[in-house]
Amino acid sequence: MSLLLKNALIVTMNDGFEVVQGDVSVREGRIAAVGVVPDAPHDRVIDAEGDYVLPGLIQTHIHLCQTLFRGYADDMPLMQWLRTRVWPMEAAHTAASLRAAARLATTELLASGTTAVLTMETVHETDAVFEAVAESGIRATIGKCMMDADADVPSRLKEHTRTSLDESVALYRRWHNTSDGRIRAALAPRFAVSCTRELLEGVAALSTAHQALVHTHASESRDEIAIVRQISGGLSNLAYLDSLKLATPHLCAAHCVWADDAEQEMLARRDVKVMHCPSSNLKLGSGIAPVAEMRRRGITVSLGADGAACNNRLDMFDEMRLAAMLQAVHHHPGALSARDALWMATRAGAARLRWSTTSVRLKSARRPTSSGFGGASRTSRLIQTPTPLSCTRRVAPTSSPASSTARCLSTRVRRPASRGRRSRSRPGPPHGSWPFAPVYNPLAVSVEEC
Ligand code: GUN
Ligand code: FE
Repeated sequence: MSLLLKNALIVTMNDGFEVVQGDVSVREGRIAAVGVVPDAPHDRVIDAEGDYVLPGLIQTHIHLCQTLFRGYADDMPLMQWLRTRVWPMEAAHTAASLRAAARLATTELLASGTTAVLTMETVHETDAVFEAVAESGIRATIGKCMMDADADVPSRLKEHTRTSLDESVALYRRWHNTSDGRIRAALAPRFAVSCTRELLEGVAALSTAHQALVHTHASESRDEIAIVRQISGGLSNLAYLDSLKLATPHLCAAHCVWADDAEQEMLARRDVKVMHCPSSNLKLGSGIAPVAEMRRRGITVSLGADGAACNNRLDMFDEMRLAAMLQAVHHHPGALSARDALWMATRAGAARLRWSTTSVRLKSARRPTSSGFGGASRTSRLIQTPTPLSCTRRVAPTSSPASSTARCLSTRVRRPASRGRRSRSRPGPPHGSWPFAPVYNPLAVSVEEC
C-alpha cells in the first residue's frame, strides 16, 4: 500500500518548526519522503492543494470507556460527578459496552486528527478495550483502572489490592508492545483518593521493575486535595505521590491544576510528565492549571480531552484552543502561543509516550521565507516527525483500512477559504506569521527512542 499526498502545506513540527510546501509519500505504513518526492507510482494519490498536512495529534489523557456517558454527567464538580454518575456507569459496563465505547471513541478520535492516545479504562474487562483499539488502527497505551479504596466506590469497582496488581501485570504481559508496537500497556491507579497506600507502593515497585508508565490523576480539584491531605496525614497530593516513590520520569499525572511552587519544583526535578485537559477543567469547574509556569520550569506538559463525560467532545483542536486562551486569561495573551499549543499536542505527547521518531528526508522542498515561499532549496535535510503524519478535518475520509498510517492520513485540514488559493510559488503564512518565525524550540523536548 502506498499513498502520495500532493501539493500540501506541510507543518513538519520539526525542531525548527518548519513549514514547507510539497508532497508526502507513505509506503507500507511508513512515511517514505517529505518535500519533493521521487517520481514513482503510488497506489493512491490525493491532491492536497489548499490543505495543511501535520503530524498526528497525541492525546495523553483520555478514558475511552466514558464515551457512552456523554451528556449524562453535566453540571457537577469532580467528586460528585464521580460518585453519583461516572462510577455507577463504569460499574455497569460489560465487555460488549466497553467494546462499543472504544470503537466509537477511536472512530471519533481518528476522524478529528488524533492518532495516538494514553488512556485509562475502567476496572474490569479491559481486554475488550485492548481488542477494539487494536482493530481500530490508532496507537494507544492503555491502562486498566486500579481502585481499592474509598467507601463511595461501587462494589463492582472496588478491588482487592493484590488482585488489582496481579490483573494489571497480566494485562501488561498480554498486551504490551503488541500490534507491531502500536499497542502498549500502562499501570493506571485512578487517583490517591481511591487507592490505598499499599496499592500505590505496589504500583511504584512494578513501574520500576518493568519500566512501565504510571497513568494517574493528581491535584485536579480542591475537594480531592483535601481528601488526600486527610489520607496522607497532611501531605499535598503530589508530595504524597512523591513520598510513595511514584514521582519518577514514568509518572504521567493528569491535571495538576493546583500544583503549588514546591510541587512544581518537585515535578521538574523528578521529570514527572503532566497532562493538561483544559475543557475538562472548565466543565468540572476544577480551575486553571499553571501551564505556562510548569513549562517555564521545564516540565513536559501535553494535552488530552479527558473523556466525553467531562468534556462532551474528544476534539484536540478544542483542547489546543482552550489551552492557549486560558493562559491568556491567567497571564496575558501569548503566554501560551498557538505554536506552543501545537507543540504540546504533538511533540510533548510523543515525548510522554516514548514513541520513536520517524526520520524522513526533506528533499528540495519549497520553504517559506519572510516574503513567502522562496524557490526550491536543493539541499536535503533530515527532519524528525514524532508521529505518523496526519491531516485532519473537513475532507471526507479517503483511505482504505489497509494500513493504520494510511488511516491516520485519512482527512485533511482545509486552509481558510477567505485567504483563497495560493499559488505554489507565492503562498503566504496561514495564520499570521507564527510558523515563519526563526528556528524555535520551546521545550527542547527530546523524543526518546524506544
Ligand atoms: N479523577 C479520578 N477519576 C477521574 C476521572 O475519571 N476523570 C477525571 N476528570 N478525574 C478523575
Ligand atoms: Fe481523567
